[in-house]
Amino acid sequence: MKSVFCTKYGSPKVLQVKEVNKPVPKPNEVLVKVYAASVTAADTMIRKGSPYFGRLFLGLLKPKNPVPGTGFSGEIEAIGENVKQFIEGDQVFGEIVLSVGTNAEYVCIPADGLIAKKPENISHHEAAPVCDGALTSINFLKELAKIEKGQKVLIIGASGSLGTTAVQLAKYFGAEVTGVCSAANIGLVKSIGADRVIDYTQDDFTKSDQTYDIVYDTVGKSSFSNCKNILTKNGTYISPVLDIPLLFQMLTSSKNGKKAQFDATGLKSIPELKVLLAELLPLLETRKLTTVIDKTYVLEEIAEAHQYIDSGLLFRYNE
Ligand SMILES: NC(=O)c1ccc[n+]([C@@H]2O[C@H](COP(=O)([O-])OP(=O)(O)OC[C@H]3O[C@@H](n4cnc5c(N)ncnc54)[C@H](OP(=O)(O)O)[C@@H]3O)[C@@H](O)[C@H]2O)c1
Repeated sequence: MKSVFCTKYGSPKVLQVKEVNKPVPKPNEVLVKVYAASVTAADTMIRKGSPYFGRLFLGLLKPKNPVPGTGFSGEIEAIGENVKQFIEGDQVFGEIVLSVGTNAEYVCIPADGLIAKKPENISHHEAAPVCDGALTSINFLKELAKIEKGQKVLIIGASGSLGTTAVQLAKYFGAEVTGVCSAANIGLVKSIGADRVIDYTQDDFTKSDQTYDIVYDTVGKSSFSNCKNILTKNGTYISPVLDIPLLFQMLTSSKNGKKAQFDATGLKSIPELKVLLAELLPLLETRKLTTVIDKTYVLEEIAEAHQYIDSGLLFRYNE
């Protein structure tokens, strides 16, 4: 089978496609024929080993797990002798974190891992990224910020993987949603439910009189300090992009006043993630939550896919 390999940190050029033996599932694993795997900003950061403190988990000098990719969707081709939850032919999707990746034609997944039956009415392409964008955003909005009906929520990076799901989830939870993106994506962000959209190239939302109960910066382009004046008295600033100031502010901000919060969703326990995924399933089934896909590539084009994300102005890799 074909599999992508990333044996050192660096630019997309470090990604190579190689022919290897198909893996054999252990007694507690299922073998999934991968029909779609996601490639996201998180994957490109893992490829870069960036930020450096992430290497404590990923491998100090080179990736501990040379096969990249986290999200997957496909069909179970074989099951280990102890597997009771799934049968051959089941259509499944999910995510693996900190183990052999999903950018391959086949992958073995623990049957008690983050894997679920795919709703019939969504495609493999739509299912593969769910445990990146949607699972992260439900964790941030519901578990961290404790979103409530009627709250005002600002979503920065509203056109991205986390942002598009955040807009839809915040609307589902009954919030009034303002999205922040570039002019080219205003139509997209409105189409997925945002009440208002701010073009960050034209307007500085941090200078506005409008205040928000939750500011969710999905792309780490702002900071708690410069968003403090747009937070309500007990408002929460959340961002999935950790840096030293955010870490400091998270540790020092008061629980009762304006506060900053971060979480590494992929490092939560599997039972905790499964509870969140179970909450997403009916939303996916009823299309209250849809996946926005930017581009699709075949496996051999993995370097182009990473290059495309790197060119998105966010985290350009300096060779
Ligand atoms: N902590 C966690 O649990 C966790 C989990 C998953 C991902 N992450 C991290 O979350 C981050 C976002 O990931 P993603 O997959 O959502 O990224 P993405 O899909 O690449 O989204 C990037 C978005 O950023 C927007 N953007 C660029 N500059 C902006 C600015 N100045 N202001 C507002 N928006 C701007 C772009 O919008 P326009 O094109 O409209 O400009 C684009 O849509 C990554 O750093 C990833 O590693 C963290």
